[in-house]
Amino acid sequence: MLSKRVWLSGEAVKRFSNAVVSVEKKSEAHKKSEADKGKSSSDGPNRISNDVSAQTLTQPAVSVTGLSKAFKGVPALRCVDVVVRRGEMVALVGASGSGKSTLLRTLNGLQMADSGTVNIFDTPLQSDGKLHSKARQLRSQVGFIFQQFNLVNRLSVLENVLIGNLSQTSHLRSAFRLFTRLEKTRALAALDRVGILEQAYKRASVLSGGQQQRVAIARCLMQGAQIILADEPIASLDPESARRVMELLTDLNRESGLTVITSLHQVQMVRFYCDRSVALCDGVVQFDGPTVALDDERLGDIYGSAAEELVRRGHAEILTA
Ligand SMILES: Nc1ncnc2c1ncn2[C@@H]1O[C@H](COP(=O)(O)OP(=O)(O)OP(=O)(O)O)[C@@H](O)[C@H]1O
Ligand SMILES: [Mg+2]
Repeated sequence: MLSKRVWLSGEAVKRFSNAVVSVEKKSEAHKKSEADKGKSSSDGPNRISNDVSAQTLTQPAVSVTGLSKAFKGVPALRCVDVVVRRGEMVALVGASGSGKSTLLRTLNGLQMADSGTVNIFDTPLQSDGKLHSKARQLRSQVGFIFQQFNLVNRLSVLENVLIGNLSQTSHLRSAFRLFTRLEKTRALAALDRVGILEQAYKRASVLSGGQQQRVAIARCLMQGAQIILADEPIASLDPESARRVMELLTDLNRESGLTVITSLHQVQMVRFYCDRSVALCDGVVQFDGPTVALDDERLGDIYGSAAEELVRRGHAEILTA
């Protein structure tokens, strides 16, 4: 069964409407702001469910069974089995080439596996190399964040966020970038949620890396994603921006109940932000459990001399500052 969209509560949208008015006044194109139209009742489509019940938490968000993938005969994933439950925040750990990106990309059908199945909320997305009929519907619930942000640089920040809603926008409206007042209000609310509302009308290309990554996260919120897949989301960021992006993901996980699966090179970051880790080595899951158990000795067992690199890399300094 597909789940309801959960990203913004009626209360959040109400709180937000004043901010929409002030931002829109700054834009010639939006002088006649009618932000209050964006107010929706708590039963509306923008409702955020902050109360993630215990029962909900035990439901699988992503189930991977027997997933294998090879490129030109070279295995990238070997019979991977992983279940991530709703509301979990899970790190994918592993040395370069261990299969983290390949696994993440199969989870929303960006990559087709050779064999095995991926279910999203108990509904099949792909199995044995074939996308299922509900794949499009399921994908709208799975946001993807890339290391390099993947924004459209020539568009405004707001338009980049609105793109997140394209699956629910007619071809004609999307071709002419005609978005409704409610869609704009939701996009602005998403930007407010990630802390960069004041950047809404700037070109995406002028933002810092950390801000661009937050736009990408806002786009996932606009999309209505309940699962965020993040492939090295902080690898291109300075330490402070990296910390802020990780805190935002943690916040969305804890406060809004979003399920987050993120690949991270930096083991210190994993230990700080993620309770559960899945460690891959040459496409095989070598560890799946509480991050506290993935200590240096265990890493050494799995990766040998490459473990040192995993521990040494990255932004450890900001975690102790
Ligand atoms: N499109 C592709 N074509 C050919 N080989 C690929 C492709 N994508 C991945 N691979 C190979 O699959 C294996 C796993 O790659 P993957 O990118 O998933 O690793 P990773 O853990 O994400 O590495 P990194 O930490 O460097 O991002 C590697 O051997 C890689 O060379
Ligand atoms: Mg990768």
